[in-house]
Parts: sequence; structure tokens; C-alpha cells
Amino acid sequence: MTTIEVTTREGQKVDVKASEGLSLMEIIRDGGVDELLALCGGCCSCATCHIIVDEEFARHLPPISADEDDLLDSSAHRNSRSRLSCQIPFTQALEGIRVTLAPED
Ligand code: FES
Repeated sequence: MTTIEVTTREGQKVDVKASEGLSLMEIIRDGGVDELLALCGGCCSCATCHIIVDEEFARHLPPISADEDDLLDSSAHRNSRSRLSCQIPFTQALEGIRVTLAPED
């Protein structure tokens, strides 16, 4: 089974089943991690799907768009590994990716 590892804000690690064709946001939300609000449903307009991605997988991620970059700038918790999970389609290259939910803004 293809999975990703999600660390919640309380530090709990959860293995979530992943499928190609879904975004990391959809995989995390549908996997039962309801801390990830994803209020805009993936339209890149809310930043409530903010995650911190493990460095090891950075090279497999799609480039950050100007819209995503602007939205991440609105977060007080942005760091160099921040991404919006709705902007990352899951591919096999991301098998086993480890992500941490960013603190709520
Ligand atoms: S779900 Fe709103 S920006 Fe990702």
C-alpha cells in the first residue's frame, strides 16, 4: 500500500493511504486528519492546508507558483520547507513522503 506519513500539530504520526490523481491536501483530509481545514477546497486561496515537507523530498515537488508563494507569505509560520498541500499532486516519486501540519495562523 502506498502511504505518506503525516505528523499532526500534537506530534502524532499517522500513516495515510495515498493515491495518484489526488493532491496531498485531499489525501491528508480524506485520510482522517481533520486538523487540516483546507477551507477553500484546493483553490489556492486560504492557506489552511499549509504543511512543512521533509527536506529529503523537496526535489520531487512541483515548483511553487506565484499565488502559492504569496499565500504562504501570509503565514507567520512559513519556513523554507513550507508548501500548500493542495498544490502538490501525489505521484509515486512522493511515496513515503513525510509532512508536518504547520501551526494554525
Ligand atoms: S486548501 Fe485552500 S489554499 Fe490549499
